[in-house]
Amino acid sequence: MLIRPRRNRRSAAIRSLTQETHLQVGHLVQPLFLVPGKGQRTEVSSLPGTFRLSLDGVLCEVEECMAMGLRAFIMFPAVPDEWKDKVATYSYNPENFYLKAARAIKEAFPNCCLISDVAMDPYSIDGHDGLVGEGQILNDESLPILAKMAVAQAEAGFDLLGPSDMMDGRIGYLRNALDEAGYAATGIMSYTAKYASAFYGPFRAALDSAPREDEDIPKDKKTYQMNPANVREALIEADLDTEEGADFLMVKPALNYLDVIALLKENCELPIAAYHVSGECAMLLAACKNGWLEYEQAMPETLLSIRRAGADVIITYFAKDFARMKTQ
Ligand code: PBG
Repeated sequence: MLIRPRRNRRSAAIRSLTQETHLQVGHLVQPLFLVPGKGQRTEVSSLPGTFRLSLDGVLCEVEECMAMGLRAFIMFPAVPDEWKDKVATYSYNPENFYLKAARAIKEAFPNCCLISDVAMDPYSIDGHDGLVGEGQILNDESLPILAKMAVAQAEAGFDLLGPSDMMDGRIGYLRNALDEAGYAATGIMSYTAKYASAFYGPFRAALDSAPREDEDIPKDKKTYQMNPANVREALIEADLDTEEGADFLMVKPALNYLDVIALLKENCELPIAAYHVSGECAMLLAACKNGWLEYEQAMPETLLSIRRAGADVIITYFAKDFARMKTQ
């Protein structure tokens, strides 16, 4: 036998020399769920270890992560129903608790990278990412609302805005609105290929942001999020986002869509982000809780597989745990 691939696996030192993909804390983004008030800390039942925190708790969390070299965060607000309406007015009120929290975080930790989500669902009584009219999700009518939200977030100090609504034309529209408002330096991490997936359940439970049960309201997000059966369509979205001025392209979810990550990596020049979503993390946590999988082994292998597929950046609920493992 002339060729013996096992020679390159013989020792830890040789395996390290031949390792193709690396996963570092610097590649990861930690999601944060923010609630109004003080001293609030409730665990998301389907995501053990993830909490809905008020600003004081979020500041402690960010401090702990920063000390371990984890510097990027994507924050989502859990907005009480009484502050929601059909047009997401609260989303661009400069005094809302989400924007105030962003200012406080950037003031305390100017070196962190703070990412937002630009979509109407946490603020909309209908629970959709765009405006609902006559039983439809209205595309062009949603854009000015999303632009007001984006400018308010840029003003609050977010470094990267993450439009997650999948409306057509939003990246160009938001880029233009940001530039006109003087925020040319604020980046856009576009949710480019976001699928109408069954794996967002724990997230929607955490924010209480699922589409409202009403016969006039579409029950799902299939008219704007992508069909899980499609992959070539992701290239159309990626080309549009690139032309419209996005700075990152995101694929979401991650694990069931590794082929989409690989395709965008091969065909696009922009950095690729992958969102390892709540339901994907919940599955692994549930198996570990049952003693069926070993968390400290299965979790890093999972994140590594997302990197291997081509993700430069991974948004994952496991970011802090991974950072802790690395610093121990
Ligand atoms: C909202 C949004 C969702 C997620 C991120 N931004 C839910 C949805 O589209 O319904 C899901 C993230 C996760 O499941 O971890 N636009």
